Amino acid sequence: MGNRKVICALDTGNITEAVRLTRKLAPHVGAFKIGHALTLQHGLDVIPQLQDAGANRIFLDLKFHDIPNSVALAVREAAKRHVWMMTIHITGGPAMMTAAVEEAREAGVQDAPLLMGVSVLTSLDQQTLTHQLGVSRNLNEHMVQLSKLAIECGIDGVVCSPNEIALIRSEIGHAIIVSPRIRVASETQDQVRTGSARGALDAGADYLVVGRALTASEDIEAALESLGLEPMNSR
Ligand code: C5P
Repeated sequence: MGNRKVICALDTGNITEAVRLTRKLAPHVGAFKIGHALTLQHGLDVIPQLQDAGANRIFLDLKFHDIPNSVALAVREAAKRHVWMMTIHITGGPAMMTAAVEEAREAGVQDAPLLMGVSVLTSLDQQTLTHQLGVSRNLNEHMVQLSKLAIECGIDGVVCSPNEIALIRSEIGHAIIVSPRIRVASETQDQVRTGSARGALDAGADYLVVGRALTASEDIEAALESLGLEPMNSR
């Protein structure tokens, strides 16, 4: 039966493997996330291939960060291929985000991809932010302010790690929250910015990105269960 709140990350550059995983996992998850590994090798033509293999919803995670016109063109290409969700960097600024939002609106309600803003990459920590990137705000505050800016610009939602979900949820109303860095409960201790699936949903996440815990598993339902995710079909 699976869980439609789970987005499976296809972190492979091998299209045959991606199609195999999609066929296997499509009955169990709500969407599939692809990134540079697949698209740099095979182009966006991987999207219809995965759709044919059962991926009704594709999350194109290329984290665009460029001048407004270039990002708008990226949104147009994604919309043409019926991408469900895609990521852009909030630090590209309001003009870039507004251009993306306008381009998505041009695509019409049916084909407009959901635009998700990335504020601070989940691999960064306070130390790096402060001492190497020269950001004076603390990490949580920085993420909140960037997330609010994104929503003000019309972006549909934001990406954040489990640690920040509750805080960001309290600041952005009903906008969508997607969270990677989900670990089985026993593994979450001592890992920076990770959290359990149940905790992330309870804190206010709408979708969870899970990669290897699913793609490396023989028994998908057992893997979902060990993540603490009960079967559910609603979207
Ligand atoms: O670790 P896992 O295989 O579940 O990773 C799935 C996805 O989570 C990756 O595709 C990546 O986008 C995201 N991730 C992240 N930060 C990390 C590790 C993974 O955002 N430090």
